[in-house]
Amino acid sequence: MNKTDAFFVTLKLYIKFIFMLTQMLENILVAQIEKEAYSSNLYLAMASWAENNGFEGTAQWLYLQAEEEHIHMLKFITYINERGGKAVIPALKQPPIDYIDIHDLFDQVYKHERLISKSINEIVGVCMEEKDYSTSNWIQWFVNEQIEEEKSVKLILDKLKLIGLHSLYLFDKDIVLMRNTASKA
Ligand code: FEO
Repeated sequence: MNKTDAFFVTLKLYIKFIFMLTQMLENILVAQIEKEAYSSNLYLAMASWAENNGFEGTAQWLYLQAEEEHIHMLKFITYINERGGKAVIPALKQPPIDYIDIHDLFDQVYKHERLISKSINEIVGVCMEEKDYSTSNWIQWFVNEQIEEEKSVKLILDKLKLIGLHSLYLFDKDIVLMRNTASKA
């Protein structure tokens, strides 16, 4: 390594050190990796149930949701490492295999997303306590994402309430369209 390269490597390490996450913030961000990874697995489990019960549209919606959660997890991993922390890849508990019906499934999606919103808000709180305004700024993307996710699942639940146990075939066709419309908005 020549002198210029060595200078830039040292500079990079120095900048990383200056903007390093506090231990408390690192811990809560690492905990969020597990929550996002579990979310992805949970939606895969739900997609599998939906596919086995004739809800192909719902399965497609859930597979896409699982991919999004995987991307969320990656965002946390890279951010922690960029900020001088150590992203830890967790072991995951097994998500539920069975659901009573499609209402129960989306009820659980909604409850899960509410929990995730709560944990994102807790991260915002720690950012404020630790006066880490860069992470506070970075986490805002997730705050907005959670608002959108809760809104879209609430809409699905409202539709399900309206149709009861009727027209589930049409609902299953409709749900794919709902996702496409939301992603274009
Ligand atoms: Fe990444 Fe829907 O929580």
